[in-house]
Amino acid sequence: MTDQLKTELLSADTAGIRRAAELLREGRLVAFGTETVYGLGAIATSDRAVARVFAAKGRPRFNPLISHLPDAESAFAQASLSGRTEELAHILAAKFWPGPLTLVLPRSPTSTISDLAAAGLETLALRVPRGKTAMALLREVGLPVAAPSANVSGTVSPSDAQHVLRSLDGKIDAILDSGPCSVGVESTVLDLTRETPVLLRPGGITLEALTEVIGKVHHPDDFTEVLPASPGRLASHYAPSLPVRLDVTSVEPDEALLAFGKPLLGAGATWNLSETEDLEQAAARLFAGLRFLDTEGTRRGLKRIAVQPVPRHDLGLAIRDRLRRAAEPRGPDMAS
Ligand code: TXA
Ligand code: MG
Repeated sequence: MTDQLKTELLSADTAGIRRAAELLREGRLVAFGTETVYGLGAIATSDRAVARVFAAKGRPRFNPLISHLPDAESAFAQASLSGRTEELAHILAAKFWPGPLTLVLPRSPTSTISDLAAAGLETLALRVPRGKTAMALLREVGLPVAAPSANVSGTVSPSDAQHVLRSLDGKIDAILDSGPCSVGVESTVLDLTRETPVLLRPGGITLEALTEVIGKVHHPDDFTEVLPASPGRLASHYAPSLPVRLDVTSVEPDEALLAFGKPLLGAGATWNLSETEDLEQAAARLFAGLRFLDTEGTRRGLKRIAVQPVPRHDLGLAIRDRLRRAAEPRGPDMAS
């Protein structure tokens, strides 16, 4: 897949969705907007199509992909459900699907999802997205669609079609443009295959909301652990090219500032996640802000991105997780 492709830009109308579905069914790569971030879609039932996703992203193959389906029924048809897992899966699907929650479930022996998408694991990550275009596309395709975030592995996730284009133009067949993503951080990944559910990745559905519905959820305190069960939980991720300094209480003139609430004064460039300390607004503005400060900071010769503290609750948990990974030292194999 070193060939340069002509990336079609499709609008999110009936014709665009139909064209996107046709390309996907042919085994081609189509980026599409969901409520969280843009996904790089390929039909999940074809090893060949899925292999193209790994190649276009430069993603390590041991890191499995989420399969997207139009409803809970078609999602659960891919899984082997019984006992408490089944009970929890149904409660969570009724409450949060369609929406930014991914469930890790035992893979059914009759699942049609390719081994490569599942990275050979006995489990599957399944999600029913809420974005209108994503839902229409999935219905039109009629097959599970594997979709990691539509960016080169290890870089900042895309929250609008322009971000995708900048990162993957010429490497994918089409982009279905449904405008900016409303949630702005990826889905919450919850493993239901253990005794107690485990939060593998904080995301668009908050830990508080999960706990309210299903009770106890295990989670690493601040997501500094790498859980073996979650191959994608590798340290460096979401990395801008400038280094990132977290939880700052003062800022230098040679730093770009990612502010939250009242901005610190004196930075070389500033992007405020939310002046009113609204975490939903902050999540929606996070990846665009990192990109802006990275580009603007580099242009102005700044040294670093400094980040004001974001609280550790609700969507703040997902925001802090992404920021912490953006601040990690980078290695060639550390990304997803
Ligand atoms: O919001 C989202 O989830 C976006 C949109 C496009 O839907 N997708 C996304 O995919 O973020 P990706 O590939 O960037 O992240 C998938 C995460 C990774 O951390 C991966 O390791 C984990 O889900 N995952 C996938 N299958 C898994 C499995 N069987 N067990 C544990 N973790 C799994
Ligand atoms: Mg990703």
